[in-house]
Amino acid sequence: METVVSGIRSTGKLHLGNYYGAVKNFVKMQDEYKCFFFIADYHSLTTHPTPANLHDNVRSVLVEYLAAGIDPEKATIYVQSDVPEVVELYLYLNMNAYMGELERSTSFKDKVRSHPDNVNAGLLTYPVLMAADILIHKATKVPVGKDQEQHLEMSRTFGNRFNRMYGHEFFPEPYAFNFTDKLVKVPGLDGKGKMGKSEGEGNAVYLRDTPEIIRKKVMKAVSDGGPSEENQPKPEAIQNLFDLMKIVSAEDTYAHFDNLYNNCQIRYGDFKKQLAEDMIVATQPVRERISEIEANKTYLREVARYGAIKARESASKTIREVREIIGFKNF
Ligand code: TYM
Repeated sequence: METVVSGIRSTGKLHLGNYYGAVKNFVKMQDEYKCFFFIADYHSLTTHPTPANLHDNVRSVLVEYLAAGIDPEKATIYVQSDVPEVVELYLYLNMNAYMGELERSTSFKDKVRSHPDNVNAGLLTYPVLMAADILIHKATKVPVGKDQEQHLEMSRTFGNRFNRMYGHEFFPEPYAFNFTDKLVKVPGLDGKGKMGKSEGEGNAVYLRDTPEIIRKKVMKAVSDGGPSEENQPKPEAIQNLFDLMKIVSAEDTYAHFDNLYNNCQIRYGDFKKQLAEDMIVATQPVRERISEIEANKTYLREVARYGAIKARESASKTIREVREIIGFKNF
């Protein structure tokens, strides 16, 4: 059976990008594959959280994983920092990861541009830690959104380089995965680019947002004065709202508003109202389960403890073999 690994950085609440790009696939994959889903708290350290925030954020993602339907009996759910073998593999892979290729990574260049005051070495080697997360379980499938595609390519590079260097076909090649065979990019509400945690207030709709908040955010989403000619191409901000509707609404709802746009009869107020209501319905089952799961501290502790045991079992086997391949020997 093929092995699946994926994770989400614990830097805040999960938004619709995380949900449709990643978590929905996790839930489907757990029935078909050997799955490891983790909470990437080592990765979150690049943003320097306080100890209290760090723990709250990890718990929040764990709760949202469970509320979304990841089942700890089917998939291994764990906290990344409970599996220190990952750090050991990260160190080995770092020895063969070159400055040039790390500096050329798009996500690194984006961070340098957006946070010039905090360009730390952890950011530079972020793709190496990601490769360690994946290779530690010898995974071949990695459910992620479109923005992670380049990181997956780097994971293959690092794994293949290790194999070549030591003359062992040890790590298999991991590939980004989505059930539709097309990686998803969920747009934000600010008229430009993807939905993200660091793109500013109002850009992202979170799984925890109440219906009132969702309505408010969607009604405030960037739009324009409306089309002036029939069948004119949609500008980015409008296309983004239609893309969101394609994700959360029924096909005929989408077709209805698409027709209205093409006939220059669309009223953005009605369009947004419909989009907000469909988002509310799409996220309702997850939202409803969040508070119940969050209150059950014993259950959360059990899930994390059980997940850590299973993940370490798999990770320590890989590390034992890696140490042997590298040439570490007992006297
Ligand atoms: P992170 O926390 O930024 O995002 C988690 C997952 O959500 C997806 N995603 C999106 N998908 C579609 N549209 C969007 N707007 C959108 N925003 C986020 C991301 O593609 C991702 O799948 N580096 C990873 C976490 C990670 C990881 C790993 C993932 C650490 N190690 C190993 C897979 C395997 C990250 O920062 O994701």
